[in-house]
Amino acid sequence: MLAAMGVTYVDGEWVDDDQATVSVRSRALNYGMGCFGGIRGYVADDGKQVHVFRLDAHMRRLAHSAKILYLRMPPAAESAQIVLDLLRRNTIREDVYVRPLLIHNSTALAPILDEDSSSFIVYCMPLGRYIDKDAIDVCVSSWRRVADNAIPSRTKPTGAYLNSALARREAMDNGFTEAIFLTEAGKVSEGSAEHVFIVRDGVLYSPPSTEDNLDGITRRSLIAMATEDLDLEFVERPIGRTELYVADEMFLCGTGAQVTPVQSVDRRTLGAGGVGPVTARIKQHFDDVVHARVEKRLPWLTPVWG
Ligand SMILES: Cc1ncc(COP(=O)(O)O)c(C=O)c1O
Repeated sequence: MLAAMGVTYVDGEWVDDDQATVSVRSRALNYGMGCFGGIRGYVADDGKQVHVFRLDAHMRRLAHSAKILYLRMPPAAESAQIVLDLLRRNTIREDVYVRPLLIHNSTALAPILDEDSSSFIVYCMPLGRYIDKDAIDVCVSSWRRVADNAIPSRTKPTGAYLNSALARREAMDNGFTEAIFLTEAGKVSEGSAEHVFIVRDGVLYSPPSTEDNLDGITRRSLIAMATEDLDLEFVERPIGRTELYVADEMFLCGTGAQVTPVQSVDRRTLGAGGVGPVTARIKQHFDDVVHARVEKRLPWLTPVWG
């Protein structure tokens, strides 16, 4: 259940959260026709300023998703301004999650993609940790990742999160915190809402976005941080299931999950369990970047206040 907190943006209007509703006949509800983004803002060390992480990149990706799915949204710069206005109108002074949502909102019966019925909605909520554990146990899901050629994973499509939810439910029912999807071809795709990195002999690996996963903004940011700031070697290539079992370290990343260390896969402990040393470095650096402690990465942060 989403926490109500004030005002939501709906197609040019600011409305109370409980007034931001759709018809039961909406195509978005009946067929899952839409796409969304997920953006975080972090309260700075002074306890007052809030910085939105990679706002422009998130809006660019949403614009790409809109193009693929025949949805219409305001230009990326205007949409970014709406996000900032939303945070100000809700007087956000804490860690926050912003959800821009683009839906096909016609109430007509047939599932037809028609840009004239697009609705652009943005809401926000306070958010601390999405995964509330220091190091997690994951499994490889029996559900396969929905293929980009079936429902384009790179668009963050609303309907495809049923695939994520099935995998996560199965994982939790079996005592794991998260599930890792394989593609139909049997290669590592992503978690239910996170990208996958492994570490082998000090080198970082992560599968490309052509493995039916989202074109991840945290993932891309971490690759830049690891290679440019921490002098780590990174290789983008397909990863097989059993390679996860013999990785020295593994972590998941995403806007929600941030950097989440993985200590076991299908009950095979990785390294010494807990948080591996390379993961710990990356996690700390990510934390420093989003909290505006790294001068070089300040261009990734958009201040909400003053
Ligand atoms: C399926 C899926 N994969 C990966 C991610 C991570 O992507 P990003 O870093 O852009 O948030 C998300 C969203 O957070 C997601 O929903």
